[in-house]
Amino acid sequence: MRHPDFLLGVATAAYQIEGAVAEDGRLPSIWDTFSATPGKVLHGDTGAVACDHYHRWEEDVDLLASLNVDAYRLSIAWPRVMDAAGRPNEKGLAFYRQLLQKLKDHGIRTSVTLYHWDLPQHLEDAGGWRNRATAQRFAEYADLVSRELAGLVDFWSTLNEPWCSAMLGYGTGHHAPGQADLLAANEAMHHLLLGHGLALAAMRRNDPGSQKGIVVNVGRGTTDGATPADVRAAQLFELQHNDWVLDPLLRGEYPAVLHDELWPAARPPVLEGDLAIIGAPLDFLGINYYFRTNVRADGQGGYVEVPLAGVERTQMGWEVYPDGLRDLLIGFQRRYANLPPIYITENGMASDDRVVDGAVIDRQRIAYLNRHLAAVDEALKAGVDVRGYYVWSLLDNFEWAYGYERRFGIVHVDYATQRRTPKRSAELIRDFLARRRAGG
Ligand code: NOJ
Repeated sequence: MRHPDFLLGVATAAYQIEGAVAEDGRLPSIWDTFSATPGKVLHGDTGAVACDHYHRWEEDVDLLASLNVDAYRLSIAWPRVMDAAGRPNEKGLAFYRQLLQKLKDHGIRTSVTLYHWDLPQHLEDAGGWRNRATAQRFAEYADLVSRELAGLVDFWSTLNEPWCSAMLGYGTGHHAPGQADLLAANEAMHHLLLGHGLALAAMRRNDPGSQKGIVVNVGRGTTDGATPADVRAAQLFELQHNDWVLDPLLRGEYPAVLHDELWPAARPPVLEGDLAIIGAPLDFLGINYYFRTNVRADGQGGYVEVPLAGVERTQMGWEVYPDGLRDLLIGFQRRYANLPPIYITENGMASDDRVVDGAVIDRQRIAYLNRHLAAVDEALKAGVDVRGYYVWSLLDNFEWAYGYERRFGIVHVDYATQRRTPKRSAELIRDFLARRRAGG
């Protein structure tokens, strides 16, 4: 990533930073409803104010520019830009237009995700992602936004982490809308992927000059067990996390084992022609990577997580395991003959960062980022076409079910004052990018 063409950026998402949830015609989303439900989010936190980015966006873009980043990944809040009848909300669109324009004025490349989990509540009331019609609504939203914002976006991503939307939202209930039903998760996944494929076609028509792709979360599964069943358990973990999403996108089929062996009662509602839409070629693939999971056989043909002792962990309890990123990238290169160019669209860690004498010395994050960038370098050397890396996140923000307690930012946010303080990691990134720009 020392090469000047390798993009180094930072990422955020609308609901996690914007606040202003009832301003300028924004409709409620499933995360407004979910976070207002007692017991769903740690400390009862909600995204109502978050980092107040909706009002402080100019200051935040100046901050981004001061860090010398090549690119910024953000998301558009669907409930901000479209009313319940599918008509454009001009005020919401104007917000993103001015934001993207200012980023462009600073020479910062823009990477825009259409769906980072904030489904309009009225669509959930009509069945949400379990309802096939939501895929069509999503394509209409993509059509509107890519027409309105054409020319301002370098990289469009349809979905962020469909696995989380489907599994955490409908399979375990840890995320909005909070359903816990494996069949619902499989229905949701299929309609999310179908929505992706339909949206891609609309975006290609409207904004031919941009790159289009999707962002998926991937997990490394390994075992410390000794039996063939344990080895199989680790494979099943990756099958369920990675192949479930990547196989339909890159091979035009769901992995047979998943629905024949693991989940026979939860088959996706595939209609003729769906998989061809889902498997349409991508310009890039966005990969979000955070940690490794150790598993063993559960004795019933599945797997169970067995946390390793004595390994380094983050504030989330996630293991720091950079080799997992390298190994997954190399594995994808082998599994998918048509693997598109890759951007690491998220990587980073949470720590309990505090401002002391005006500074935040986030040593663990600095080491984390360095080691994961080194893992990307190893994948590059092994021939994987990785073209960029975005740190999650620019700002401390609303970490979904964990609220504001978990701090992923390279910039500290004091929520009482909204004061932003770049952490040491941000300063090192700024200095590295200044040197790289100067050719050093
Ligand atoms: C994945 C999600 O895309 C993002 O919204 C979240 O905050 C980070 N990972 C950290 O959990």
